[in-house]
Amino acid sequence: MNTYERMCRDLEKLKTQGRFLYPSAGTPIEADPQAKLTFAVWGDPQIAAWSPLRAARLYSACEDIARMSRPLDALILAGDLTDNGQAAEFKMLQALLCSHASGFQNLLCVSGNHDVRLRSFFRQRRIFAEFVEGIPGGIAGNRRVYYHKAVLCGYTFLLLGTDRSTFEEAYISSAQLQWLDAQLAQTARDSVVFVVNHQTLKNTNGLPDTWLGKGDWRGTVGRQSDALRAVIEKYRNVFLITGHLHYGASASSFEDCGTFKSLSAPTIGVVNHGQTDAPTQGYVVQVYDDHIRLRARVFGEGRYLPDDLPGADITVAL
Ligand SMILES: [Fe+2]
Repeated sequence: MNTYERMCRDLEKLKTQGRFLYPSAGTPIEADPQAKLTFAVWGDPQIAAWSPLRAARLYSACEDIARMSRPLDALILAGDLTDNGQAAEFKMLQALLCSHASGFQNLLCVSGNHDVRLRSFFRQRRIFAEFVEGIPGGIAGNRRVYYHKAVLCGYTFLLLGTDRSTFEEAYISSAQLQWLDAQLAQTARDSVVFVVNHQTLKNTNGLPDTWLGKGDWRGTVGRQSDALRAVIEKYRNVFLITGHLHYGASASSFEDCGTFKSLSAPTIGVVNHGQTDAPTQGYVVQVYDDHIRLRARVFGEGRYLPDDLPGADITVAL
């Protein structure tokens, strides 16, 4: 029995033991027809060969979006798709997403440190691209680098990713910074542009406290955080989306950083830190001409977090 077959067997065992969570049908996600774009953001599925529970959580979350009367325009995975970058872990996530692909029209994924660490950079890039390409609606970019661009419903998404096999931070090469700058120069003056990166910028979204306070660079892009921020804050309409922190919806999840906005998505697959620690959390994002609405949702339970909870229901003026 290979690793993937063992993962399938372990997942099936959880199912027969009645340990799968099924989202309640009471409060389905309704895409507002007035919205120009509706997507969900999930951080860190971190599917692990050793943890069938994470795959079970993904299954539950996928059930929630597959029940929508109209599919999301996009599902966005903000990195750390796997725990160890193993081909079998990618294959499990691919199978879960493929079997629920009626829930989204497009799939955008960025890589995280767990997807690349301690492995050959180019081999991992190929595995990652093949993973995305194998899912209906998956937009993979080219196979040489992780960073690429997608345009959905007229909105630009710039997907960033490390240019080296790093352990915890991201190495954003000067070529990638120049590419980002050029892309933003073309698009960010007219309308909002979504930039997706796994790690958060230094001193934003509650850091360092939201990384449990261990050093001011941990939980961030790392040494190039300032250089990346300098490019992003040259423009007025950047909406940055990140994961990595495994921190439940809170007052820190969204931050207006002046020239740009920053949303830190909780983990969908692992237990979250913070007061709102339920797994399977993420955000439903609805984009209108003059504002964006962000709603924190426990996808695996099929419910939004209560509106009065900090970070649960945020309206961002554009
Ligand atoms: Fe991470």
